Amino acid sequence: MKLAISGKGGVGKSTLAAALSLLMAKTGTRVLAVDADPDANLASALGIPAQEQQSIVPISEQIALIEERTGAKVKQYGQMFKLNPRVSDIADKVAYTQDGISLLVLGAIEQGGSGCACPESVLLRALVTDLVLYKNESLVLDMEAGVEHLGRATARGVDRMIVVVEPGQRSVDSAFRVQRMAAEIGLDRISFVANKIQSAEDETFVRAALTGERLIGLIPYHESLRRADRDGRSVLDGADALVVDVFKEILNRLSEAG
Ligand SMILES: Nc1ncnc2c1ncn2[C@@H]1O[C@H](COP(=O)(O)OP(=O)(O)OP(=O)(O)O)[C@@H](O)[C@H]1O
Ligand SMILES: [Mg+2]
Repeated sequence: MKLAISGKGGVGKSTLAAALSLLMAKTGTRVLAVDADPDANLASALGIPAQEQQSIVPISEQIALIEERTGAKVKQYGQMFKLNPRVSDIADKVAYTQDGISLLVLGAIEQGGSGCACPESVLLRALVTDLVLYKNESLVLDMEAGVEHLGRATARGVDRMIVVVEPGQRSVDSAFRVQRMAAEIGLDRISFVANKIQSAEDETFVRAALTGERLIGLIPYHESLRRADRDGRSVLDGADALVVDVFKEILNRLSEAG
């Protein structure tokens, strides 16, 4: 199963991405977890020890690799470089692997955004395309609020995009923006997950705001998740059993949907 997770900053994308990755890995599935958010924090949600996190160099900062594969110098303009660099071995070579999950951190592209034709962005695009379209493993893509890194062709390989929302109008507006951007690249397999639900009113608000949409789970606001973040534990190790059950239910719904 290949999932992309999007939503406004801080809504709980990495929490959900890590929980689903960890649950899939527990069943023996090989999972590739990709942190595509420039403000990367999936490693910590997966419970990778802080010291180990230091050793993970985002791909956009792996200058030697970028230059080797694209045949161009990073941060120099007006060069020729390969538009189809070889990328199929990168995941195995540079991913950080723990408990059946391989984590790849894409990193931020400094100049001109990811639309620029700089070597870094060409390599990342080629890599994401390879992971989504040609790798057999399960994939969980932790994104920022948008469809960055996905194109029309790549989007075809995404089984489902999950948009996480909080019970608030700004987060709902942002979720619908993401849905529209996804539709523009032909990705209409969208499910919503509501997070940080604190009351019956929150639930009523979210259900009303998402009327007619596919809402596949409501995760309660739970101190155990906040504490897990504070204490450097994975979202599954740290979470209360009740919350873990909600994560499991969401994964079941996704599996049923295919
Ligand atoms: N259901 C919840 N109950 C309590 N705290 C939560 C819940 N979900 C997420 N959090 C906390 O909210 C914070 C943000 O969550 P998370 O990092 O998963 O969001 P994000 O969408 O990935 O953020 P960013 O946009 O910065 O990448 C974290 O401290 C996390 O532990
Ligand atoms: Mg995040």
